[in-house]
Amino acid sequence: MTATTSDIEKAAGVLRDGGLVALPTETVYGLGANAEDPVAVSRIFQAKGRPPNHPLIVHLGRAEQLDDWVEDVPATARLLARHFWPGPLTLVLRRGRRVPLEATGGLETVAVRVPDHPVALALLSAFGGGVTAPSANRFGSVSPTTAQHVRTELGDAVDFVLDGGPCDVGVESTIVDVSGGTPSILRPGGVTREALEEVLGHPLAVPATSSVRVPGQHPSHYAPRARVVLVEPEKVVVEAEQAQELGHRVGVLLPSSFGDAPVKAHAVVRLPGSAAAYARGLYGFLRELDEQGSDLIFASLPVEEGLGLAIANRLRRAAGPRPA
Ligand code: TXA
Ligand code: MG
Repeated sequence: MTATTSDIEKAAGVLRDGGLVALPTETVYGLGANAEDPVAVSRIFQAKGRPPNHPLIVHLGRAEQLDDWVEDVPATARLLARHFWPGPLTLVLRRGRRVPLEATGGLETVAVRVPDHPVALALLSAFGGGVTAPSANRFGSVSPTTAQHVRTELGDAVDFVLDGGPCDVGVESTIVDVSGGTPSILRPGGVTREALEEVLGHPLAVPATSSVRVPGQHPSHYAPRARVVLVEPEKVVVEAEQAQELGHRVGVLLPSSFGDAPVKAHAVVRLPGSAAAYARGLYGFLRELDEQGSDLIFASLPVEEGLGLAIANRLRRAAGPRPA
């Protein structure tokens, strides 16, 4: 059920009182608090089980508010904001005085974005201020893309959940650091590298990626309960079936190139052909394979262009080594 006007008013009141509100955005659901209330912000970290030195994103209702929250906005940042806001782009800039250090994990920079979702924008407008919101999941696990995911993950730890239906983009925002000289992508996401480069007129540095099977470089994050195993696309079925035969309960993210080929595995998600539909469904698919009791999930990386870059990044991190 999509949030009503009275839900929005109630949620704005919860924020004013220092409470936590889960809000839909176009990327994933966020766990929001009043950005200017250090105590409320610290509750976010408790609810998520997230280390307090992890910086949060400040969500604003309008791009015009940018100068109230950051300092020294370079022309590049304005250009990107003009093109991509509201939208799945987060800009890292120099922290303005209004932003408490609790929200930035002690950093002198702050991440800011204007989300493109009618419910999020209605809440931000009713509230008036900035809302710090990480993804509304327990630390390290898969981001929620429905209100039900949030309830399952956080239960009573959140004071109010605004339902805005399933998220349209499905992976988090692209984070671009514009606080120094040359802009660089800190996290690939909903705005593609190609779209950014077209607007900027020059290539962008992208975070280092490692080859498929090298563990140890990507701490586990965005991870389902089942262990994710990455294999070459053409070997997904063969390797999944072998593991199933060895007694594992194998879940498979089956590339669309396999069509409706039968797979002898515990649970199979047949991936959509378009990258947008894959991104939109990704976290839900991982949850589904978990819920069906898989202990291993076999997947392969998509081609790393367009949204494929963000999907591959999340799959790598899901497959990374688990903390002890
Ligand atoms: O799409 C999204 O970005 C979602 C929705 C809710 O807006 N939010 C989200 O938040 O993904 P979170 O907290 O799960 O991820 C934010 C990322 C973190 O990896 C954090 O390290 C990075 O943003 N970040 C925040 N502030 C930063 C800063 N000042 N410098 C560098 N990285 C920063
Ligand atoms: Mg997150």
